[in-house]
Parts: sequence; C-alpha cells; structure tokens
Amino acid sequence: MSIHTPKKDRKITLSTIARMKGTEPITMVTAYDALFAQLFDGEVEMILVGDSLNMSFFGKEDTLSATMDQMIYHTQAVCNGAKKACIVFDMPFGSYTTPETALANAVRVYRETCAQAVKIEGGEEKAEIIKVLSDSGIAVVAHIGLMPQHVRSEGGYKVRGKDVADIERLIEDALALEAAGAAIILVEGVKGEAADLVTKAVKVPTIGIGAGNSTDGQVLVWSDMFGFFEAFKPKFVKQYCNGAKEIREGLEQYVQEVKSRRFPDDTHSY
Ligand code: KIV
Repeated sequence: MSIHTPKKDRKITLSTIARMKGTEPITMVTAYDALFAQLFDGEVEMILVGDSLNMSFFGKEDTLSATMDQMIYHTQAVCNGAKKACIVFDMPFGSYTTPETALANAVRVYRETCAQAVKIEGGEEKAEIIKVLSDSGIAVVAHIGLMPQHVRSEGGYKVRGKDVADIERLIEDALALEAAGAAIILVEGVKGEAADLVTKAVKVPTIGIGAGNSTDGQVLVWSDMFGFFEAFKPKFVKQYCNGAKEIREGLEQYVQEVKSRRFPDDTHSY
C-alpha cells in the first residue's frame, strides 16, 4: 500500500483528498470561527463548517433552524482562519429542497465563501440535486446514514446498518450518489460493518463519524472531542481534552484574583 501524505503547508484540494482513498486516513474536524480554524489548520486535511454549530454554538436543540446567512457568516470566519485545509460548507435544512433552490444556494456559497465543497444530507433521492450541482461545477459531499436534519421526521437519532436490508440500502444510496457526482461520501451513525461495505463499494473517499474504523477518514465535532459540549456525549465521541473543566478552572482563578485585587498586578499594568 502506498502512503499518500499530503503536504499540509499548502492548500489541500479535493483531488488530494481523492488520492488519499485506500492510502492514508483523512482527518476532518468541524470549526465555526477563525480562532479555532487557525488552530486546526495545517493539522487536519479538512474542516467542516457543520450545521452542528446551531447546537454547540447557538444553543438550540437540533440543527434544523440554522440558516444560509448564519452558515455563510461562520464559513467566512473559518476561511479567514484556515488557509490550507479543504473547507466544506454544510447546507442547512431547507436550503436544498429542489435542484433550483440547491443550485442557487450552493452558487451563493462559492461566491461568498472559500468553501471547496457543499455537504448535503440524503440518500438516492438526492441524486438529482447532486448531479445538478456537480454538473454546475460545485463539489458535493453526500451525507448518508444517520442524518441529523431528519431528527424530527425520524423521531430521534437512529443508528443505521443494523440488518442486511438496511446495509443494502446504504450501499445503493452511496453508489447512486457517487454516480451523480458526489466527491466524498460522509457516513454517520452506521454499524462498522456497514460502513466498511459502503467504503469498499465506492471509488470516492468515505469519511465516517460513529461509523467504525474502516472508512477512508474520520470527522468529529470539535466541541465534542475537546470536551466543551456537555449537553450529551454520543458513544462514538472520544474526548481528547476536557475543555470545559480547563475553562472553569481558569475562570474561577480570574474571578478570585479580581475579587481579591491580585489581578491586575504590576506585570499586567502600564
Ligand atoms: O454538522 C455537523 O457537524 C456534521 C457532522 C456531524 C458530520 O454534519
């Protein structure tokens, strides 16, 4: 197996990502602002401006009320901070209900942000939309499996790929989306065995979240993986640091020092 390690000191393109399939695992995290995008840039190959920001940043219960204007604003911020990572814009709920709406909104993304691709949730039924976008020169990441934008219609977040029929459905979805022009298939909340079969079925890279360890890459939501989002922790999230604890400790110290007039001291005064 040849290892294709992209140089992270220059802009990573979708062609670079395509070449990584079956070689080196692709790393992706979410970011919603310039500060964190800058921290992640040069470390991961891809940054997703996910509509998960509606929950972790805006405090809502699900992703459904995120708007195009909000997503554009946050993507512009991420573009200001990240100059090398391949940036993906998550199309919010309601922004791609018809091919015409999807095209108008995706054109806006390319015009107003530096995102290299847009992400759309849905299976085979979204193939026509993906074809229209890719035929128009807009790269698409197709998101299959557990789709957070379907949380209300499905009555919750449900793990997929638990039986043969559903595994076949996922493979059919992935093949239809690839044939329609999807550049990447993102697979969320799927049994590892199913994600493995999807990954083997398509030629484009797959990126998994809660989908086991055989997809071509992995994505995590930054506020989950760094321990800032405390409302709930899905089983698939590994917490790489305890951000909320660190912040609370720092804040507590600051409050104590201000109250006791230990801050600011001479070294922090003009
Ligand atoms: O919005 C998001 O962050 C996502 C990830 C969960 C893949 O879609």
